[in-house]
Amino acid sequence: MEKPIKIAIAGGGYGRKVALPVYAELDEFEPVAVWSRRPERAGELAEEAGVGRSTGDFDELLSVPGLEAVHVATPVATHEQFAVAAAERGLHVLCEKPLADNLEGARRIVAAVRSAGVVGLVDYELRMKETRRRVIERAREVVGRPRMASVSLVQSDHADPDSRPHTWVHDDRLGGGRLQGYGVHDLDLLLEIFPDVDAVAAATEVGVPVRRADDGELRPVTAEDAYALLLRFRGGGLGVVTLVATARHGRGDVIEIHGDEGTVRLDSDRQVWWGRAGEQLQSEGPLDASSTEAFKRVARNFWAAIRKGTAPEPSLEEGLRVQAIFDAVRTADIERRWVQPKPVTLP
Ligand SMILES: NC(=O)c1ccc[n+]([C@@H]2O[C@H](COP(=O)([O-])OP(=O)(O)OC[C@H]3O[C@@H](n4cnc5c(N)ncnc54)[C@H](OP(=O)(O)O)[C@@H]3O)[C@@H](O)[C@H]2O)c1
Repeated sequence: MEKPIKIAIAGGGYGRKVALPVYAELDEFEPVAVWSRRPERAGELAEEAGVGRSTGDFDELLSVPGLEAVHVATPVATHEQFAVAAAERGLHVLCEKPLADNLEGARRIVAAVRSAGVVGLVDYELRMKETRRRVIERAREVVGRPRMASVSLVQSDHADPDSRPHTWVHDDRLGGGRLQGYGVHDLDLLLEIFPDVDAVAAATEVGVPVRRADDGELRPVTAEDAYALLLRFRGGGLGVVTLVATARHGRGDVIEIHGDEGTVRLDSDRQVWWGRAGEQLQSEGPLDASSTEAFKRVARNFWAAIRKGTAPEPSLEEGLRVQAIFDAVRTADIERRWVQPKPVTLP
């Protein structure tokens, strides 16, 4: 085994729940420092995870001796400044999804990573869950050309003002909203199967307009807690991506891919069904859908890209591909019309 990669983690939400425990468990990494906006919070995180250094000063984080890589897990609107600063110091960057607030910001991250000659990855880990990996594999095997692809998420965690505290996730100026939380993962999944999207239409909504913050005050919610997206694939076929986070009764994710040659379905019990035209559907599952296991795959890919020179996966270019659709979705929602995503070329 080669030397583990010395990595710093910026962000104490997902960074604490998923990233830090995974880096601490894997032999491929050595977490050496943690950053949070509040230094005292950074200190708590470091102590909890047994990491030697903590700071609220990002520049100090980048100066840790021997540091090789940074995982940027901060609010979306802050990814660009942190990811670019890390790349400019010659550090490898694993950036949370979506890459940035918009395509231009995402392109600046990719440009900084390329010009520094470091490795960059974007954490579209949901496609690495066993459930979704199997959907992608089976769809590539059996469905053929798209007829109708749908992803439907029904969650109850935002159903009441007190059901989840107000954070940046509820603030559109900081890149919040359920589209950045889940919609981009679902677009990423569909693009893995049908990469050629001609146009999108979209509607978003804030169903619960105030939410209680940790200080007990009710704050306005400006970022969507429900959305419905329509996609037209080039050459034919439609896509539908929906989420409601304010449902009174949640259920497991449901994905259906109907093509001219066959069908793949993920049901709400994590069972995957698939078959070609004329065949009975076969099934497999329930399959694993743990975020931790999915992130381990992303982390190992990051390691292999740095130490072995393998192609990064999910790549920054795949991050740009989602970002182009995400921008088009935002415009379509605001202007209430069909919008063509800007072209992004994958290498
Ligand atoms: N890949 C996935 O499946 C996945 C899952 C969840 C989240 N994420 C991503 O992880 C990133 C962080 O999300 P999260 O859920 O971890 O958020 P979070 O729990 O609110 O944590 C945000 C972190 O960023 C810091 N921060 C810096 N500037 C901030 C600002 N202006 N407002 C609020 N916090 C600020 C916070 O510092 P303090 O603690 O000191 O306030 C905190 O450490 C996002 O990009 C999100 O999309 C990815």
